[in-house]
Amino acid sequence: MEFFDVMENRSSIRKYTDEPLTKEEIRCIAEAGLKAPTATNKQEIHISVIHKDDPVQAKIQKDLNPEASVNFYYDAPVTFYLSAMDEFGWSDIDAGIAVENMHLAAKALGLGSVILGCMKKVVNGKKKEEYDKLLCIPEGYSYRIAIAVGHADIEKVPHIIDYDRDVTIK
Ligand SMILES: Cc1cc2nc3c(=O)[nH]c(=O)nc-3n(C[C@H](O)[C@H](O)[C@H](O)COP(=O)(O)O)c2cc1C
Repeated sequence: MEFFDVMENRSSIRKYTDEPLTKEEIRCIAEAGLKAPTATNKQEIHISVIHKDDPVQAKIQKDLNPEASVNFYYDAPVTFYLSAMDEFGWSDIDAGIAVENMHLAAKALGLGSVILGCMKKVVNGKKKEEYDKLLCIPEGYSYRIAIAVGHADIEKVPHIIDYDRDVTIK
């Protein structure tokens, strides 16, 4: 897909088929994250690739909301967890830029995805050390943001933008 087609047609997908991702798709999406710019070229983003049947997914769900009718990763075959250095002031922004690259890369590959922020209080909370191990987060790093990716099982119209409200040209 051309870049502007990707951007104009992307939306957050919250329903997936059971079809797994290929190794090439996983690599391409992770590389898109690593190719993102980082402040002072720190390149401090780490990506953990977690498949849906990994027990850590169910554990997070249990700690987040065991009663929920839909799990936090919407049963997507793969969730990518992005972590970044603790002692670097731009890490959250770097992770945000990287995850958007991954969201657009997934769309360009014909896949669907949704950025996930809702688990932060669980993963970085009281059980942080345990989750750091389970999610293979490097020493001195913390989880920042995640993205669930799979084959979309739903069509979703992109959100409407309001250029006049949201852009000021001085
Ligand atoms: C930082 C961030 C965190 C988000 N966290 C979640 C989340 O935890 N769960 C979820 O379903 N969607 C999450 N989203 C997706 C937004 O809800 C979505 O982008 C928004 O509703 C607009 O929809 P669209 O992406 O289809 O245009 C997140 C998006 C961002 C940018």
